Amino acid sequence: MQVFVQEQGVPEELELDEFDSSADHALAYIQNQCVGTARLILRSDGRAQIGRMAVLREFRQKGVGRQLLRALILLGKSRGIVEFELHAQVSAISFYEKLGFIPHGEVYDEAGIPHRNMILLSKIND
Ligand SMILES: CC(C)(COP(=O)(O)OP(=O)(O)OC[C@H]1O[C@@H](n2cnc3c(N)ncnc32)[C@H](O)[C@@H]1OP(=O)(O)O)[C@@H](O)C(=O)NCCC(=O)NCCS
Repeated sequence: MQVFVQEQGVPEELELDEFDSSADHALAYIQNQCVGTARLILRSDGRAQIGRMAVLREFRQKGVGRQLLRALILLGKSRGIVEFELHAQVSAISFYEKLGFIPHGEVYDEAGIPHRNMILLSKIND
């Protein structure tokens, strides 16, 4: 909420959705303060979608986002997922590329912010 709704101006009704209750949520804490979060949605087609990746502004560029993303990829792989998808904000594409995600398709608008789809194909033993 603090990052997407307050910082980026995403409408609150778009931020909360029907997947929140069934998704796995990764939370990052520093000294009892939650500083970052991301979620993993397992889909019926055997793929998984990562989303709501957010780190509080003052805690960015310290490796928190990378740890959250890695944790969700490991969790998904432990459940047999080999293909992860996400809708990346264009400004975050380089962040995801560092963890192996590859952009594909056109840039499109989502919640008023330019996005591009990205995919990570991962072997179970990677
Ligand atoms: C994108 C975001 C989650 C990254 O989290 P973070 O904790 O700052 O990322 P990390 O510190 O783990 O960065 C890992 C690497 O990616 C790089 N990186 C981080 N954000 C980046 C960005 N926006 N563009 C390019 N590179 C980025 C870091 O420099 C670091 O590189 P290194 O391994 O060479 O040192 C965070 O900036 C954020 O919450 N942004 C606002 C919300 C948002 O845009 N979320 C993404 C929605 S798709």
